[in-house]
Amino acid sequence: MRAAGVLLMPSCENGVCGTCECGFLEGQPIHRDAVLSKDARSHRFIPCVSRAKGVLRLDL
Ligand code: FES
Repeated sequence: MRAAGVLLMPSCENGVCGTCECGFLEGQPIHRDAVLSKDARSHRFIPCVSRAKGVLRLDL
């Protein structure tokens, strides 16, 4: 995302603070954070540590 010029506001970069949290619109995320609740994982994403299977369309 940095290489693409997307401005994030990361702090911990370890998936624990939540400052980089964003939404996602479609795709299959692989959540690796320790911040989001089970419900939030259906529509929110922590990009500093999480990944995706294939393409994930973010809501920035
Ligand atoms: S920068 Fe802290 S969770 Fe992403």
